[in-house]
Amino acid sequence: MINALNCKNEGRPPVWMMRQAGRYMPEYRKLRDKHGFKTMIKTPDLVSEITLQPIKAFGMDAAILFSDILVTAEALGSEFEFIEKKGPVFLNPVHTESDFSALSTDTSAENLDYVYRGIKAVKHALTPYNIPLLGFAGAPFTVASYMIEGGTSKDLKKTKQMMLREPELFSKLISRLTEITVSYINKQQDAGINAFQIFDTWAGILDQTDFKKWIIDPIETILRHTKRADIPRIVFCKNTGSYLHHLKNLDCNALSLDWQCDIEVARNILPERMAIQGNLDPYLLYAPDELLESRVKNILKKMTGDPGYIFNLGHGIMPDMKPDKIKLVVDTIKKLA
Ligand code: CP3
Repeated sequence: MINALNCKNEGRPPVWMMRQAGRYMPEYRKLRDKHGFKTMIKTPDLVSEITLQPIKAFGMDAAILFSDILVTAEALGSEFEFIEKKGPVFLNPVHTESDFSALSTDTSAENLDYVYRGIKAVKHALTPYNIPLLGFAGAPFTVASYMIEGGTSKDLKKTKQMMLREPELFSKLISRLTEITVSYINKQQDAGINAFQIFDTWAGILDQTDFKKWIIDPIETILRHTKRADIPRIVFCKNTGSYLHHLKNLDCNALSLDWQCDIEVARNILPERMAIQGNLDPYLLYAPDELLESRVKNILKKMTGDPGYIFNLGHGIMPDMKPDKIKLVVDTIKKLA
């Protein structure tokens, strides 16, 4: 995995999947019946157990820390709850200057110590597996969108309204999140992560001008202030296809592609130094085995032999997907060994 992130892999491509720990696993649901989601991400022993569940069940080549991107919002004082079937709901969404003033100015991310303790616990538990631990953080735009919308939204209307009508307020929120994200990633690096991914799930909703200003610029700042020679970085902007000419200049090791993107076209646009991660349509996990296997092999045919390629989905695993399908995908790739 680390070799692939450095574009130096000589073996089969490594494989992991976004949302590889979660509700589709009976082992996860068993714990979830007993604890709330936020309790789980704040309890290092549970973080460790859940992070390792997919590794034990399917043998992915990387573990991703069990946590959530919204913890940076909470660290600034923006409280949220997870409501069943609805997702995150913020108690005091940020709509006005005075809502913004109520947020904490402390961007040290020290109050996320449960994450750093979780990382140490996972690193210890991962010792026999000899695979890297990926840390992660949400990018400022996507985290801001949850703080403004108050939860999940289809079109991010309130977010875009603030961005266009009150650019100064929006800019202050993005800067505050950029600062805390830098501290947060640096503390994750101090705690022992081996690589990290920045998630900007809603980036694809912006036009080219706003993409440069609100996606590229903050991510560039984060990458600049978190650079360490031995810790590779992955950037995932969902709906990346229209923005590759911006993304190709980022100082990250790898770009994670969604499934709408043509992976060979992307390979030609992106510099050789940039690894590619992706990009199976996650809905294929609902397909019959033969179809799923053939579409995995299609991607492998295009990318095997590329020293900078990591197999992943174009987005996360969904709660009603079948563990057998995950196993089939991992096994198909591992058979290449
Ligand atoms: O990938 C992993 O396995 C690592 C852990 C992880 C989670 N969320 C666990 C989780 C990661 C990397 C995330 C990222 C995340 N969280 C993103 C960016 C990537 C993406 O998927 O778009 C976003 C936008 C969030 C915010 C978030 N967290 C939402 C919208 C929800 C609700 C979704 C739903 O389907 O209910 C969550 C909850 C969440 N995060 C769960 C898990 C396992 C489910 C919690 C539960 O058990 O109820």
